[in-house]
Amino acid sequence: MLSRRRFLGFGAVAGAALATSQFPLEAFEPSRHGQAVDAKTALGAARANAILLNSNENPYGPLPKTNAAMQQALGWANRYPDFEYDSLVWAIADLHKIQPHQVVTGCGSTELLRVSACAFLAPGSKLILAWPTFEAIPAYAEPTGAEIVKLPLTSNYAHDLDAMLSHTSSGPSLIYICNPNNPTASLTPRKDLDAFMAKLPSNSYLLIDEAYHHFATGSPDYVSYLDQLTSNPRVIVARTFSKIYGMAGMRLGYGVSSEETAARLRRFQNQDNVNMVAAQAGLAALQDTVEMQTATRRIVADRQEFFNQASRRGLKAIPSYANFAMMDAGRPASEVSTYFKNKGILIGRRFPLMDNYVRISFGRPTEMQQFWKVWDEMKSSS
Ligand SMILES: Cc1ncc(COP(=O)(O)O)c(C=O)c1O
Repeated sequence: MLSRRRFLGFGAVAGAALATSQFPLEAFEPSRHGQAVDAKTALGAARANAILLNSNENPYGPLPKTNAAMQQALGWANRYPDFEYDSLVWAIADLHKIQPHQVVTGCGSTELLRVSACAFLAPGSKLILAWPTFEAIPAYAEPTGAEIVKLPLTSNYAHDLDAMLSHTSSGPSLIYICNPNNPTASLTPRKDLDAFMAKLPSNSYLLIDEAYHHFATGSPDYVSYLDQLTSNPRVIVARTFSKIYGMAGMRLGYGVSSEETAARLRRFQNQDNVNMVAAQAGLAALQDTVEMQTATRRIVADRQEFFNQASRRGLKAIPSYANFAMMDAGRPASEVSTYFKNKGILIGRRFPLMDNYVRISFGRPTEMQQFWKVWDEMKSSS
C-alpha cells in the first residue's frame, strides 16, 4: 500500500532514465574498476585493524534478532522490498502511535535532513542552526540558495534559542535543532524548546534531530519532541537506526511529522530508498525492545566509565547525553587526533569553535582501556 515504487509506477520512470543515461559505460572500464576495488580493500583492512571511536557508531553491532533478519533478507535480494517496506513503515507508525502517512523513510536520517532542506529552503529563506552541530544540513542547504545562519551554543552548550528566534522575523526559515547535540552531546531543555516553539512565526519550521534520543537518559530536561506531531504541522522529528540499533552501515532513518508536512517532504525523497536488507533489519530491530533496552544500559554504563576515567585524570568533559563525549584535551584537537591515528585509534576530528576539544565515541571496554593507555602515554610523552 505504501511502497514508493508501486505507488508511483516507478518502473516506467527508471526505464526512461536509463535510455538517456549520462554515465558512459567506459567510466566503468574493468582495469580502473579493479584499481578502485584494491584501494578500497586496503582502506578496509586498515579500518578493520583500527579502534574506531570517531563516528558515534554502536561498537557492539546490531541487536541479535536484527542480525538474523539480515541474513534471511539476503535470500530475497533479487526482489523489490515492497511488502517489507510497508511493514517497516507500519511498525514505525505503531511505535510512535501515528499514521503511516506521517512517516518518511530515508537512506539514513541524513536523507531526512536533505529532503527538509529541499522542501523548506530557497533564496530568501534561512536555515538557522547552532554551531557547532551536525554538519550535514548546512551542506544540503547550500545549493538551495537559502541564507545559512550559524549561531554559537550557549555557555551550557544548549542551542541559543533566543538568538535563533531573533533571526526568524525577516522571512521563512527552517530551524535545525540537534538534541542531544552532536558534537557536544549536550541537551537543549524541553521547556525552553516549548517556549521557543510558542513564539515561532507561522512561516518557520522546526526540524529536531533526535539521532541520540535513546542515550538521553538521566535528565528531566530531555523529552522527545515526537508528542508534538499531531498538533503541530511545523515540526519534523528525525530518527535513525544508526546509533542504538547498531545499523549505521545499513543506512536507515526516518522522519515523522503531520501528514501534510510528510507529503511535502516525500516529494524530495529518493524512490525505493530502503533496500530489502535494511527494511527487514529495521523491522526486527523495532521488535527487539528488550535487547534495545539492554543495549542502552550497556552504553550508559560505558559512558559512566568514560567519565570515571576522565575525572581520575582531572580531565574536563562536557556532560554527555549521547554515546560519545566532548573532552577538553588542553591542546589542539588536530594534534591529538593525529597522535591517536598513528597509534591505530581513530577519534573525532576538530570541530569549529572548539579547537582544544576532542570528541570520543564510546567503544567496547577493551577498546576504551587501550584508548586510556594511549592517552596516558601522550601525557607522559609531552
Ligand atoms: C545528529 C546526527 N544526525 C544524523 C546523523 C546521520 O545519521 P544516519 O546514519 O541515520 O544518516 C548523525 C550521524 O552521526 C548525527 O550525528
